[in-house]
Amino acid sequence: MAPKYPDYLFVNIDCLTYAGNLFNLESISDLPNYKFEKVDITDFPALEKCFAENQIDSVIHLAAESHVDRSIIGPAKFIRTNIAGTFYLLELARKTSERDKSFRFLHVSTDEVYGSAESGLQFNEESPFNPNSPYAASKAAADHLARSYYQTYGLNIVITNCTNNFGPYQFPEKLFPLVINNALNNKAIPVYGDGKHERDWLYVDDHCNALDFVFHSGKAGESYNVSSGSLMTNIELVKRICGILDKKLGGGKREKLIQFVTDRPGHDRRYALDSSKIKNELEWDPSNKFETALESTVDWYLKNENWLKSCTSGEYMKYYETMYANR
Ligand code: DAU
Repeated sequence: MAPKYPDYLFVNIDCLTYAGNLFNLESISDLPNYKFEKVDITDFPALEKCFAENQIDSVIHLAAESHVDRSIIGPAKFIRTNIAGTFYLLELARKTSERDKSFRFLHVSTDEVYGSAESGLQFNEESPFNPNSPYAASKAAADHLARSYYQTYGLNIVITNCTNNFGPYQFPEKLFPLVINNALNNKAIPVYGDGKHERDWLYVDDHCNALDFVFHSGKAGESYNVSSGSLMTNIELVKRICGILDKKLGGGKREKLIQFVTDRPGHDRRYALDSSKIKNELEWDPSNKFETALESTVDWYLKNENWLKSCTSGEYMKYYETMYANR
């Protein structure tokens, strides 16, 4: 793969939690302008050393505890990583920007900060925050911190809020790969509540592309919603994935594995973003059609069943059993 920005040195900072996996990075790990650093963003001295050694002059901040169900079982890690971790990164950015005014900081966030959208309505960048899970609240706090560093210190900050991502290498606690994994293993497919909660599905490549646009062209101090408009109920998505698996693998209807289970506490009914700002001001548009991306994503998991197996052993099983035992 030819690197898109050969003049940049990309330093990937990750502490490799349960969801991190160096195998996911194999295809880029030999690139001359790529480097991996195993650092926890809540370890300020280690982070400071890493910034100094690598002469970091910009940050694209995607590090987070990201799974809502886990934030309900144990919120502490979410407060630590998502709020304190963001604070440490901002502090280092602030210090560095004292000598390098061009220091750029892209803070990557979520539509969950806005809470649930009424039927027919979409949130825009001016909508008030109304987070409903410890995860969403931790991301909202981090967004506010990032914004305050622009207002108070003039740090060169941009923020993005995206909808649900799907694509290869997604850890199988998330709905999309969980459905595939359970269907492949003939296990019940848990659908929370009545399954009519709506999510807007964004292909991961389109999201990355949007981050590229905002990082390079977004206006300092501004936030940008990122969505594709592929809004559907969970039950519809699950049935579509089952249908693709039936078509590709045969062997009867996987829909029969669907099991409606007790709803997630504080479960937002509907997420919907208005992303006209990024489209009009930065000329970003998702370039992948949902149906095509859906099918190619299912294909990827079918080709990478061993990857799924390696993710779903050990810690995952303990989590899965705790999560679904009493539902
Ligand atoms: O909207 C962006 C957010 O999308 C990100 O900020 C989060 O980091 C990411 O985890 C994701 O949050 P969700 O809670 O929407 O994703 P999840 O895959 O957990 O669930 C998608 C929907 O499917 C949600 O309405 C809950 C439901 N669900 C989920 C699981 C895991 C089920 O019905 N059954 C399941 O087993």
